[in-house]
Amino acid sequence: MASSNRTFSLTFLVMLSALSFHFSNAHFVLPVVKDNTNSKYSYYTSLLVGNHHPSRVNLVIDLSNKWSWFTCDFFGYNTTSHGVPCHTPKCDRYAPLAPCSDGICVVDAYTPSSNFIYSNNLLEDTTKVYKQIQQNSLTQLSNVNLPNFPFTCGDNVPLKGLSPHTKGVVTLARVHVSLHSQISSTFKVARKFALCLPSSSPTSSGYNGAIYFGGSPNYLSKSLITTPLVINPNSTSPIYSPGDSSVEYFIKVKSIEIDETPIRFRSSLLSFDIKEAVGGTKISTMDPYTVLHSEIYKTLINVFITKATVMKMIRVASVAPFGACFSSKSVVNDAKTGPKVPIIDIIMDGKSPLFARWRIYGANSMVKVSDTVMCLGFVDGGLKPTTSIVIGGKQMEDNLVEIDLETSKLGVTSSLLHLGTSCSKFKGI
Ligand SMILES: *[C@@H]1O[C@H](CO)[C@@H](O)[C@H](O)[C@H]1NC(C)=O
Ligand SMILES: *[C@@H]1O[C@H](CO)[C@@H](O)[C@H](O)[C@H]1NC(C)=O
Repeated sequence: MASSNRTFSLTFLVMLSALSFHFSNAHFVLPVVKDNTNSKYSYYTSLLVGNHHPSRVNLVIDLSNKWSWFTCDFFGYNTTSHGVPCHTPKCDRYAPLAPCSDGICVVDAYTPSSNFIYSNNLLEDTTKVYKQIQQNSLTQLSNVNLPNFPFTCGDNVPLKGLSPHTKGVVTLARVHVSLHSQISSTFKVARKFALCLPSSSPTSSGYNGAIYFGGSPNYLSKSLITTPLVINPNSTSPIYSPGDSSVEYFIKVKSIEIDETPIRFRSSLLSFDIKEAVGGTKISTMDPYTVLHSEIYKTLINVFITKATVMKMIRVASVAPFGACFSSKSVVNDAKTGPKVPIIDIIMDGKSPLFARWRIYGANSMVKVSDTVMCLGFVDGGLKPTTSIVIGGKQMEDNLVEIDLETSKLGVTSSLLHLGTSCSKFKGI
């Protein structure tokens, strides 16, 4: 286990140096791995934690948690962490009104897999990130210390539901303690990060997913389609105080089209209903597939099936949790965009309604459930979900999804597949 991790990290460095000229705008980077177990929490990064003898810990990428947490008793963690003292400006900023235990600030972490909340000390330790360094005309990547990375610890209970490869989560939510906030404030780079979630596990040739901090690679930033980020006035976290807004990333969706035909549902589902504290659209790395309010889901499935029938796709029995499955033999495969199926467009708020479209081709809409069956990778969220549209991992894979907190925009490279480009060029170099 430990030695295979080491092989990966070495490969990663070699890969990065080989193609680092692509990163001229991205200042810091971490690898992203797609889990090969059947855990729901499939995307994780790998951090080195500790000062002199750092240990490697794999953490699920979470855009919603208020805290990063991991089990601190994992094998090999030679802790050099220290608690954040109570009544200090830092404790007040990270965790306002936090209780105090033995002079250390106490925080509440949420563990989605076991739906469990536990309180523990707020700790800090050094972690490492890969930084781009310009030397003459060459760009190199090297390991740099990110001191005082904040997190909290749990025992093994919260790990239930997580893959055996991971020991906790790292948060990228809109909070001071998130990894991107820490990188931006420590290294004085733009408050931006971008996810390139991989669609497959790493191979011997390296990682095929990444998180970029401080900016996105030049070759990708020019194909970003952007929409304003919006604040959900109502918290979506199980831990909140009255008046708290959500720490997740919401966007305004105007409509959904299938092969350019808008699907019909109550448009009020797309806005925030502050009386009930529901509604809106967010992105989530903790949901493997996009989860839709039942009313949206049902029309999406129906229109998709109608359009698919016209394309001579043959419907077969559904395989849970999906509601529309097809015989793979009846679907042609396109080398770039995946299975040739009706195209789903999420029409987002944006200056040009024609271009603020998040285009979802077969590669991001169809899930292969067996050698002979593929299903539309959207799931029914029931009639009372907190959020009407939760854009999940499958729909983001191999696209760059950038959160720019400087301009308050979400960008997505939804034309990437069509152009035959990858958001991470680590593979096969
Ligand atoms: C743990 O850290 C201490 C102090 O830095 C060091 O002397 C020791 O060798 C480390 N142990 C391991 C197992 O890395
Ligand atoms: C949602 O947020 C608004 C604005 O802060 C607030 O007035 C409203 O009471 C909240 N709704 C619920 C159900 O808490």
